[in-house]
Amino acid sequence: MNIVFLGAPGSGKGTQSKKIEDFFKIVHISTGDIFRQAIKDSTSAGVLAKSFIDKGCLVPDEVTIKIVEERIEKDDCKKGFIFDGFPRTVPQAISYDSLHNNDSFKIDKVIYLKVDEEKLLDRIVNRRVCPKCGASYHMVIKPSKVEGICDLCGHELETRKDDNPESMKVRLEEYKKLTSPLIDYYSKINKLVTIDAMNDIEKVYESILEALK
Ligand code: AP5
Ligand code: MG
Repeated sequence: MNIVFLGAPGSGKGTQSKKIEDFFKIVHISTGDIFRQAIKDSTSAGVLAKSFIDKGCLVPDEVTIKIVEERIEKDDCKKGFIFDGFPRTVPQAISYDSLHNNDSFKIDKVIYLKVDEEKLLDRIVNRRVCPKCGASYHMVIKPSKVEGICDLCGHELETRKDDNPESMKVRLEEYKKLTSPLIDYYSKINKLVTIDAMNDIEKVYESILEALK
């Protein structure tokens, strides 16, 4: 089973992907995480991606498609995967589908996490992430047990560089202009499932499980 999580910044793609990864034992592939790792490693893709991500803009399609194609070749993708944040433009989706519509990498379902805009900003400014294991917290709704420390690995938590009101404004504009047309794209080919992601994390998770059954 190959799944896509589609949704605005802060809609819960990463949070729900981790839970679905644990349940179905299929690998979670976040293009945002891949880029952030590439930035840390100072690879050429990372250096290029940084100039876009810090401002809140999307990384060019050809760079993104290349890193996804490299990632799905790895052995851990054979049992299925969850794409978190890919495809994020119609050209990315067309390119991916034209390559994989008839192979085991074909996208089966697209879970669209629908959240009102005012909620997104609250989730983003309250998010803290673990740079070591990737766990994500919300300072009010899902705080770590010890403030500033990851429950899972004990590493210090940090704020993502693009989690500030200026970058968030650009991220939302990019989402509306370039990503939201994918709702129509996947709906037309009967792959889209819309989930009310305004609910709490567990309720959203239950709705997703229901949709995937
Ligand atoms: P990416 O890392 O994918 O960021 P994003 O799309 O902006 O989404 P976020 O990770 O901010 O939000 P999320 O939906 O994962 O929410 P989360 O679960 O953490 O991409 C970063 C950048 O990389 C992009 O801007 C772009 O530059 C580049 N990029 C990546 N992919 C690309 C692509 N395909 N093409 C081009 N460029 C690309 O939740 C957020 C917070 O809310 C957390 O604190 C969480 O605890 C809380 N929360 C979650 N669910 C709930 C709930 N139901 N109720 C209450 N709180 C909740
Ligand atoms: Mg995320």
